[in-house]
Amino acid sequence: MRLNQWPWVPFALFAVAVGLYPLVYYFTDMRHAGLLQSKSGELLGNGWYVPAFYLHITAGGIALLIGWTQFSLRLRARYLNIHRLIGKVYVIAVGVSGCAGLCIAFFATGGLVPAMGFGTLAITWLFTDVMAYSSIRRLDVDRHQQWMIRNYALTFAAVTLRIYLPLSQLLHLPFLTAYAVISWLCWIPNLMVSQRIIRNVRINRSRA
Ligand code: HEM
Repeated sequence: MRLNQWPWVPFALFAVAVGLYPLVYYFTDMRHAGLLQSKSGELLGNGWYVPAFYLHITAGGIALLIGWTQFSLRLRARYLNIHRLIGKVYVIAVGVSGCAGLCIAFFATGGLVPAMGFGTLAITWLFTDVMAYSSIRRLDVDRHQQWMIRNYALTFAAVTLRIYLPLSQLLHLPFLTAYAVISWLCWIPNLMVSQRIIRNVRINRSRA
């Protein structure tokens, strides 16, 4: 499988739909919006949680919305400057959303297990972001591509989480147990798939 043969349409549609989802938090009364309804008044009033939450969802939404376009061979080949520009915005968006995500992870619904699941995801997301950026600064294009595949697979955790959560509700699983499991399940399989994609790209390259 080559990168330009991915099932782009559903992949992009999911990325755009979930990437736009944070807008809900801008158009509804904060205390009645999504996950914030379940947070205590003390947490919402502490002066940093809400700004961190909004930074996280806004920058995360941007990363999800623009990231998939970077894998297009055509864009890279024809408009390298646009690839570079979008790439810089993406790296910053992941950096901002990852740092803010790490802060709000400590207060994840359900306690320690989801806090660790999201916290580890945030650290891995930031790490792969730094690796992807530093490898392209060294002009190591192959490594850059590999780290970006891993990184976007982690960005895509926002999508897989929002597929697994409704599924767990359809299966009538207890919410907090499902949430704890999904805080890990939303990203570890993605990372494994990204390794497989990297391996396939490598095999195709060596055959070509
Ligand atoms: C990949 C790294 C990510 C990490 C570590 C992360 C972490 C978190 C954490 C800890 C929460 C709060 C959960 C709770 O309090 O129970 C959260 C909520 C949220 N995140 Fe992320 N997130 C990531 C990616 C993204 C992306 C790419 C988006 C873009 C759409 C996003 C959008 C949201 C939204 C909208 C919420 C509010 C919950 C909801 O309404 O479903 N996150 N995230």
